[in-house]
This record gives sequence, structure tokens and C-alpha cells, in this order.
Amino acid sequence: MESNMDLINKLNRQHQLNSDEWGELLRCNDEKVAKYAEQVAREQAKKIFGNKIYVRGLIEISNYCKNNCFYCGIRRGNTSVERYRLTKEQILACAEEGYALGFRTFVLQGGEDAAFTDVWMCDVISQLRENFPDCAITLSLGERTRESYQAMYDAGANRYLLRHETADKYHYEKLHPEEMSFEHRMECLRILKDIGYQVGCGFMVGSPGQTIASLVKDMELITKLQPEMVGIGPFVPHHATPFAKEEQGTVRQTLYLLSLIRILKPDVLLPATTSLGTIDPRGREKGILAGANVLMPNLSPTAVRKQYELYDNKICTGDEAAECRNCLENRVKAIGYELVVDRGDAPSFQ
Ligand code: 5AD
Ligand code: FES
Repeated sequence: MESNMDLINKLNRQHQLNSDEWGELLRCNDEKVAKYAEQVAREQAKKIFGNKIYVRGLIEISNYCKNNCFYCGIRRGNTSVERYRLTKEQILACAEEGYALGFRTFVLQGGEDAAFTDVWMCDVISQLRENFPDCAITLSLGERTRESYQAMYDAGANRYLLRHETADKYHYEKLHPEEMSFEHRMECLRILKDIGYQVGCGFMVGSPGQTIASLVKDMELITKLQPEMVGIGPFVPHHATPFAKEEQGTVRQTLYLLSLIRILKPDVLLPATTSLGTIDPRGREKGILAGANVLMPNLSPTAVRKQYELYDNKICTGDEAAECRNCLENRVKAIGYELVVDRGDAPSFQ
């Protein structure tokens, strides 16, 4: 049997493992192995990105959602959350503010809000494209039709984030009500790739029912799909969801997975997420040191921030965009990295 260190070296050489090897590596809970993975991951990230950390300005455009995912605080079944939807003018104003702070990527994220017709979205996207021609426009609006994805791409969107949530159909069904389908999620990711978007998939670490076998499938999906970005962060319970009493994901497992994903796909864009920063005050710094190279501070108007609470105790809900930008700048500097303001396209797309 190869040692886990050998498996990390093998992953670093071949950028793939078979499912038994993945199982072995993912089951491992040895701090020495995690440290080794972190060291290899950080070396790989440094080789490709130097000490640069990309920032993406996140604009949470609506917390209306027609879905009822068991883990999510803005599920339609949560009647205790006050719903909001930004106007086009508000979205453009957020982008304006972000642009002035140096952001060159905007991420429009929202629940699956029926008010976001293709016409409405394309109008916002083309206005952003016109006002900020040097910026990348990223969308994170869930599952839509091919026609819709295509129209938004044609209007000027470049990237799309759609976490697959889990690559294990059985697990997917534990996280979502019956009306949602694993196959449809996968189909959406394939369509997005096919259209030409830079695509991000991803999953929560430690979500209820997640097993080593489901994580193996996540790694295999990443290997097969070759996404430009992978977003992972710990599952954090939200008090008004069916998963309120479930256990939170751990910092340790999140960091280990970040490192393994970096080694699997050295040039991938890998954010140190807000959820990681929520469960550990130094979570994002630790994420960067484990191989992450992207931060996604919030540009949403502070008046609505609290309402976009996917999980409890989300950080930065009271801070102005400029405060977060400065805060992040100081945090990355303190660990020897620097924030950069360019678009930061995936190396494979340049
Ligand atoms: N804890 C952590 N992450 C969550 N997300 C949704 N709910 C939670 C939660 N309770 C993640 C999902 C979704 C992304 C926008 O936020 O993975 O795709
Ligand atoms: Fe928002 Fe630190 S990143 S206050």
C-alpha cells in the first residue's frame, strides 16, 4: 500500500487518481499528511499565481428563491426572512463603487428569482458590459435553460458559478427536495461549458450525509469537468432550515480539501470563502495558505446584507465595501500575499 504522502506526490505528477486512491487520501486524518498537502498545494499556487490573490466583488442581487434546498437560509420555505431584490440602478451603483475600489470582476449572485427574466438579466448585463468594458461579469443564478444561459453570454457575461453541491446522486437527494434533480444540475454545468463560459462548480464541506465515497465522486467530477473555478466552503447550519441542528463542517477538512483540489488542478481559481471566514476568524488566511487564491468580498448595499444569510453568523454583513477591501488587503499582506485588481481570468482561458 502506498503511503498517503506518496499518493499526494502521485496526484501532483498525474493530476488524477483512481477512486481507491482518492478514498485512501480523503479518509486520512493525519495532521502530517495535511501539512504536506498544504505545502505542495501552496508551492503549486505560487508557481502559477505568485503571491497574487484575486478579488471578485460579490453583488447579492436577490434573496427570492423558488427552491427549497434543505441547507439554505433563503429557501422558499423560510418565511422568517424579509425578501429583497435590487433594482438595475442599485446593481449598477454597486458595480460603480466596486470599480472605484479596484474590482475588475463582478459576481451577480442571487436565489432562483422568477423576476429575473432573460430580458431583465440581459439588460443589466449589457449595461454593465457597456459601463465597465474592462471587467469580467460572473453570474451565479442557479439553474436556467440553455437559451437563457446563451442569451446572457451573448449579452456579455463571461463566467458562471453553479456549485454542483455533491457529485453523489444519493447524497444530492438528501440535500434537496424531490422536485430538484441531480441530473438537471449536471446538465446545466455541461451546457455552461459548452456555451463557452468559464465555469465554477463546488460543494459544501461536511454537509449532512456527506461521506468519503461522495467526496471521491466530487474529486472525480472536478477531474472530468475541468472547471475553471471550484468553490468549496464548510457547511454552516442556518437556524430556520431543516438542517438547523446538523453539525457544522470543519476548518480542518475544508483546508485539506482546498489543498487536494489545488494539487489536482494547479491552475484552478480557488476561493477562500466567506463561510470559512465565518467559522474561523482566520479562516480565509488559512485557506490561502492551504492553496486558495481568490477572495470574494461583498459589494451588496449594507441595508440588505443581513437578508442574504444562507447560513448563520455570516461575517461582513455590517461592513461597507471599502472596509472589506481594506480589511482583506491587510489580511493578505500579513501573510505575505498581495491583492490584485485585474480580471484574473483562468490561465486556461487566456
Ligand atoms: N452553509 C454553507 N454554505 C451554504 N450554501 C448554501 N447554504 C449554505 C450553508 N448553510 C452554499 C451553497 C450554494 C452557495 C451559494 O452557498 O453551496 O451553492
Ligand atoms: Fe469584510 Fe474583513 S472582509 S470586514
